[in-house]
Amino acid sequence: MSGTAQIGVTGLAVMGRNLARNFARHGYTVAVHNRSYARTQSLVEEHGDEGTFVPSESMADFVASLERPRKVVIMVKAGGPTDAVIDELVPLLEEGDIVVDAGNAHFPDTIRREAALKEHGLHFVGTGVSGGEEGALNGPSIMPGGTREAYESLGPILEDISAKVDGVPCATYVGSDGAGHFVKMVHNGIEYADMQLIAEAYDLLRQGLGASAAEIGEIFAQWNTGDLESFLIEITADVLKHTDADTGKAFVDIILDQAEQKGTGRWTVQNGLDLGVPITGIAEATFARALSGSVPQREAARAVLPAHAAQWEVKDRDAFIEDVRQALYASKVVAYSQGFDQIAAAATEYGWDIDRGAMARIWRGGCIIRARFLNRITEAYERAADLPLLLADEYFTDAVASGLPAWRRVVAGAAQNGVPTPAFSSSLAYYDGVRAERLPAALVQAQRDFFGAHTYKRVDREGTFHTEWSGDRTEAEA
Ligand code: 6PG
Repeated sequence: MSGTAQIGVTGLAVMGRNLARNFARHGYTVAVHNRSYARTQSLVEEHGDEGTFVPSESMADFVASLERPRKVVIMVKAGGPTDAVIDELVPLLEEGDIVVDAGNAHFPDTIRREAALKEHGLHFVGTGVSGGEEGALNGPSIMPGGTREAYESLGPILEDISAKVDGVPCATYVGSDGAGHFVKMVHNGIEYADMQLIAEAYDLLRQGLGASAAEIGEIFAQWNTGDLESFLIEITADVLKHTDADTGKAFVDIILDQAEQKGTGRWTVQNGLDLGVPITGIAEATFARALSGSVPQREAARAVLPAHAAQWEVKDRDAFIEDVRQALYASKVVAYSQGFDQIAAAATEYGWDIDRGAMARIWRGGCIIRARFLNRITEAYERAADLPLLLADEYFTDAVASGLPAWRRVVAGAAQNGVPTPAFSSSLAYYDGVRAERLPAALVQAQRDFFGAHTYKRVDREGTFHTEWSGDRTEAEA
């Protein structure tokens, strides 16, 4: 016997609850289930008028309330809780049913789960969902993996409830097994980089201009009308203009300066290391959070480490603001370029066919990194689907080149004045590194050969060589 609900959601904490409401508001009959029934009941009591919900107390009733092939969205805490729900669900499902994990799962877990469920004739669709509570309710960006077959029946529903930009849904098929969660992971890594770059720009303006938080909020609001227009710039302006009700101080000044993370940025960096992709912007952003939380080290350092830096004197206020804006844009392009490189490398490594232009397209709305300039990324991949480096696309080459003098002035100024700008600085170093005619890596290779006979290649002929460093220093083919 099959039920009437077109889609089901199990796990009704805020994200699951909002996703269920989003489905219902789009006219789908939604089966709802939660470990504690009270939450299911409160959803139906509070929002039952938004659409048709079919509440169930037991997992068995929940599964029975779904039409076939069943589509079950799991929205529980990533890790053990997801496995527990899957274990409970699997014996109740039948061949062809689709299990959707919409949490922030680590992609190797998704690959493992997809393979396990395939054994049972079930589809497992690891799906990245971005946009927080608000997005889940009003239209998130959705990044589903799994089989194309599953996407055929599930995809239209996901596209329906996703955010739209110019009428185009911010949801599309990403690639097989763990590809959806992988792309969501990189999204989060880029989110970390974007946030850190914005924070560094704020710090530069604050220290360079001696401006108040609210004044800088105005600058960000102004920036949000141009190339930098994005959700993160917009909320930054709001945060900086906000005053703490208790103290009357700028809100940003009453917050402890120790940034936390749930782990997706760390996963992105770990994977960048595994794949050998220099995602330096994301890595610096992740380490900047770690540094901020290194309390004993910071205390010890504050007590003894001198700055030997001058008091920053900015002569031309407007020119400095424009320099920081250009440096921010250029650094941001680098962070995205690196993130897209990571997606390309992963696609090769894990056997995914990922359309990077489409990823930029579904990030234009709904998600945390939604931004005007993502259109430019889509266009770049439309011009050349296999672009080796986003920075090499004509639009980005020109955009970064025109900001280069400002970028160098800002990074040099920060160094001279003792303002930490790890993401700005490392992005510029990446830019100079990746475009360099020759890198000192040649010397590193020589050193490796010296102490470990690790061999090297020559610029002037084929082959692998070793020099007898401890002997007569003759060279032999290895
Ligand atoms: C999103 C966000 C979200 C993320 C946290 C940030 O796309 O909606 O990326 O999925 O989990 O908001 O994570 P941290 O706690 O690691 O900063």
